[in-house]
Amino acid sequence: MKSPEYPTITAIAHPNIAFIKYWGNRDDKLRLPCNSSLSCNLAGLETRTSVRFDPSLTADRFTLAGERIKGPALARVSGFLNIVREIAGRPHYAEVSSANNFPAGAGIASSASAFAALALAASTAIGLNLEEKELSGLARRGSGSASRSIPSGFVEWQAGTGDADSYAFSIASADYWELVDLVCVLDTSHKSVGSTGGHALAHTSPLQALRQLHVTERLNLCRKAILERDFELFSMVVEEDSNLMHAVMRTSSPPLVYWLPETEVILWTVKEWRNQGKAVCTTVDAGPNVHVLTLKQDVPWALSQLKQLPGVRQILQAQVGQGARLLPTE
Ligand code: DP6
Repeated sequence: MKSPEYPTITAIAHPNIAFIKYWGNRDDKLRLPCNSSLSCNLAGLETRTSVRFDPSLTADRFTLAGERIKGPALARVSGFLNIVREIAGRPHYAEVSSANNFPAGAGIASSASAFAALALAASTAIGLNLEEKELSGLARRGSGSASRSIPSGFVEWQAGTGDADSYAFSIASADYWELVDLVCVLDTSHKSVGSTGGHALAHTSPLQALRQLHVTERLNLCRKAILERDFELFSMVVEEDSNLMHAVMRTSSPPLVYWLPETEVILWTVKEWRNQGKAVCTTVDAGPNVHVLTLKQDVPWALSQLKQLPGVRQILQAQVGQGARLLPTE
């Protein structure tokens, strides 16, 4: 049989910031989360990934920012491509080339945009034409939060009952609410436990069950806050959910402490600003950097204030972004 001719396909995806967090899996292999989560995509920050399957290759090849990658990162990409090959029923290896436009050390989880872009580029390149929910479920297999970078704007990932219904969908378009994420980048020189390792520890915390108890209520409130553009309600529920996740992290065995003293200073200061009537609130992922959420009209003021806080090395600015999409083939 003649080998198929494959095209080179390029896809683009944004990272996302979760307002209601994904922390802990029911099934680590399938990345079926303990709870549903809610996020928005971050416009301007992006991963661009090209994929070409090639019948003459004897293994997958992965280049990141122009550098050939081997070891665990290649194994994770290859493991993901195995899933794509299995769905398509085609055995061929691929050449994958990827680049982020945001700095690797900036503490923005790149796995979400990376696996969303890879899911779209690889599934298209192998000849599949997946629906959005199938694509989101596929991206989930690479990195849980990547499921949320497939749909556009404000996105909910329903935990589901199994592989088939654990996917994300848009609850509001990117221009629905003029929310802005100001990512305050602190010192990121030390490596801590990554999210995959962290998810596996979540169940060791006695607080994980407690966090789960009211997570659906928080998610419902957060969805309502977004749909009603109610910043006060949004602030309350987003900060509570982030604090609960970090309480779980800190009480895991071994404990995961991601915050730096400067993290605390920003959290405290932003709360003070809110008490003075400003529309600002915070959320923190698996790292020390603080995502300060505000509204478009308050960005100049917030930036000028945040710059003065101790330890803030850089502030990345992102509005709500679109979902993953293909670039035209040349
Ligand atoms: C703290 O999606 O990065 O950012 O599935 O192992 O790749 P893996 O984990 P990942 O976990 C994200 C954790 C978080 C919270 C969130 O984004 O919901």
